Amino acid sequence: MIILGIESSCDETAVSICKGGKILSNIVSSQQIHNDYGGVVPEVAAREHDRLLNHLIIKSLDEANISLNDLNGIGVTKGPGLAGTLLTGVSFAKGLSQSINIPIIGINHLEAHIYANFLAYPKLKYPLVCLLVSGGHTQIWYIKNIFDYELLGDTRDDAAGEAFDKGARVLGLGYPGGPIIEKISLKGSSNAINFPRALMEKDNLEFSFSGLKTSLLYLVNKEKSFDLEDVAASYQKAIIDVLVTKLLRAVNIKKVNNCIIAGGVAANNCLRNLVDEKIEDKINVFYPDINLCTDNAAMIAFLAEIYLKKGMTSNIDFEVIPNLKLR
Ligand code: KG4
Ligand code: ZN
Repeated sequence: MIILGIESSCDETAVSICKGGKILSNIVSSQQIHNDYGGVVPEVAAREHDRLLNHLIIKSLDEANISLNDLNGIGVTKGPGLAGTLLTGVSFAKGLSQSINIPIIGINHLEAHIYANFLAYPKLKYPLVCLLVSGGHTQIWYIKNIFDYELLGDTRDDAAGEAFDKGARVLGLGYPGGPIIEKISLKGSSNAINFPRALMEKDNLEFSFSGLKTSLLYLVNKEKSFDLEDVAASYQKAIIDVLVTKLLRAVNIKKVNNCIIAGGVAANNCLRNLVDEKIEDKINVFYPDINLCTDNAAMIAFLAEIYLKKGMTSNIDFEVIPNLKLR
């Protein structure tokens, strides 16, 4: 089967073509237009998707060396995300599916992040524990079997990606914060400042990052001069320590042999290295290539193919759901 994937939940306009679980083309256009505003402007993002989608789809077909008539289905993100940007992608996908008469599958963006691991590692086996860490979510899932999810832990306030983004803003570093903080941290000492780690009591699988952000704010307001690299490295380490501790805890509680990391923050090498270092030898940990961790449409096309193979498609009148949950 050949599937076109479309992703427009936030500020990445992404288009991909997958065939039989393999990527033929994977294009991501990160909108730079928001840099002038210090964050994503929803209306501007939606217009940018509208401007780019047609062009990127033509380019993607070209890269995959196929024509529109070769497509067997279209997968498109239906949520969670920004209402206007989701609507742009879904409306485009609906129009295309009607005009060439192929099925459409509305895809949950969070589920697609998880399935990026199955795209990268086709032999991955259930049951497994997943740390899902993105700009809007920080959750631990026990995945017993395909589409069988149990939520083990969630954040009470900010998501890990949000903690990176807000931290970068406090430090005057720009957006998105994760990659910038990671880069600056390479030159700093992660032990320089002892930032708080919340909810670390035994067996607790919840997260909270708002106190961390506040303590960074206090530090920046109080200290006249500070070493930016040390602060960034210590701040990053405080986030990563918590994520890794809870992931390993969940793996122990559920007694699984496999665990995966998904979402934009999974691109962080400090996180990847610490998990590799701390995980027991008998447990396997997986995380996809960086371009499959951050927002992309290959994960959308890949998951849509799984649904289509099971005969599960969406009605043409399905709606976007900005606060869509996994379960
Ligand atoms: O999954 P994603 O691309 O979009 C959402 O679904 O939210 O995740 C975006 C988040 C942003 O908060 C960004 O700062 C963070 O992922 N991120 C990173 C890194 N790359 C992206 N965080 C830490 N280290 C990175 N290298
Ligand atoms: Zn995402």
